[in-house]
Amino acid sequence: MQDKSTHKNDFGLIGLAVMGQNLILNVESRGFKTAVYNRTYSVTEKFVSQHPDKQLQGFEELSDFVQSLERPRKVMIMVKAGPAVDVVIEKLIPLLEEGDLIIDGGNSLYTDTERRSQELGGKGLLFVGSGVSGGEEGALKGPSIMPGGPTSSWKVVQPIFEAISAKVDGEPCVTHIGKGGAGHYVKMIHNGIEYGDMQLICEAYALFKAAGFTTDEMATIFDDWNNSELESYLIQITAKIFEIQDPETNQPLIDVIMDKAGQKGTGQWTLINGAENAVVISTINAAVEARILSSLKAQRVIAVNELQGPSEFNSDWDKATFVAKVKKALFASKIISYAQGLDLIKTMGEAKQWDLNLGNIAKIWRGGCIIRAAFLNDITKAYQGNPELSNLMLDPYFKDILNDSQQAWREVVALGVSQGIAIPAFSASLSYYDSYRNDRLPANLLQAQRDFFGAHTYERTDKPAGEWFHTDWPEVID
Ligand code: 6PG
Repeated sequence: MQDKSTHKNDFGLIGLAVMGQNLILNVESRGFKTAVYNRTYSVTEKFVSQHPDKQLQGFEELSDFVQSLERPRKVMIMVKAGPAVDVVIEKLIPLLEEGDLIIDGGNSLYTDTERRSQELGGKGLLFVGSGVSGGEEGALKGPSIMPGGPTSSWKVVQPIFEAISAKVDGEPCVTHIGKGGAGHYVKMIHNGIEYGDMQLICEAYALFKAAGFTTDEMATIFDDWNNSELESYLIQITAKIFEIQDPETNQPLIDVIMDKAGQKGTGQWTLINGAENAVVISTINAAVEARILSSLKAQRVIAVNELQGPSEFNSDWDKATFVAKVKKALFASKIISYAQGLDLIKTMGEAKQWDLNLGNIAKIWRGGCIIRAAFLNDITKAYQGNPELSNLMLDPYFKDILNDSQQAWREVVALGVSQGIAIPAFSASLSYYDSYRNDRLPANLLQAQRDFFGAHTYERTDKPAGEWFHTDWPEVID
């Protein structure tokens, strides 16, 4: 039943695609009076009529929607990231009053969020750019929420966000990430890590498939893994995917799905940001690039008959050994992926003076979001124990896992290489590990080359750092 009291609506949402619909139903279910607006009014009408028993008011006019809200007004925008967000904000500005709050809950680029934050701040309006993760189900039942903006803006929406977010051990999966674009930035890296996790799982699948495992066997393996240190949403859904048969062909559905990956851009943004900050995120990069290569299906179909590889798959391992080794390679690579993503967050946070708390960020990823995983408890502990941790690999718990896994990890990467199975994220992760743990890389030769052709100078191992040397290298005559 509609609440007929004079109390105005507590929260308004613009954009009734599935995420918006589910999010506002979630808000309503926590006892808040809600208002909704969609550019096409028929969508609003349909949505409201489907939920007659909810405290959900639909509006045809944006001004009526705004007027229906309790002050300070809280308006959440759930529209496609990009210019559509600006269009909605432009329409809202003349209707709102000082102290009212706009929240952008889409996957906006953090630099857009910073610009919008500045523009709205200049008009006396509050703005929160918030990552919301968890897909459609998360939006309805409890997402992980990554809000960014001034503390004063966060405070306005805090009770609602804490009410609607997922809970782990009774704690809400939402925290004020930091000012400006920090929330959307951390969501972007979350997505980069999501790409990494997904690709690593796909590489395990590629190896299993090449080795002749059936989809039923793979369903069991992933199910078992979900009851281990690998427990996570993505492992769980992978097990479920392998169980589904295609009703048309009676084959496993996975076998008839086209092997061309889509992407909406957050992974590519992460890759660009890694380069801008000179932070190595090679596992995430490999994952983004694997999606790009997968999309070149037409070229791959030609190349399969042109470019040679090993003729048939060969491995001496029995199935149990194979599974155990791939599991170690997957978990070790996953640790590397998170180490890289968190390193990027740390570096960027320092550059932007966002004062980010990596322990709290890992903590709100434990539930609700796509990358939720049991091991985020251990990452949380690692940063709570040592907020200055330079790299996750050096945390005692993760160091032990990497040391224990490294031999199997190498064998799996070697197998992929020798058998012609592309495992770019497994191998990028291992190369990162091997580079990081090496105290003498071949960069001495690189420095010599730079000094040879450009007199760029070099430091010496036997002299203090910061002293620069140049050699008169012999001339080369072509
Ligand atoms: C989430 C997801 C969600 C969406 C991404 C990924 O955290 O709920 O990350 O935001 O699935 O946009 O999309 P692409 O794989 O299409 O880039």
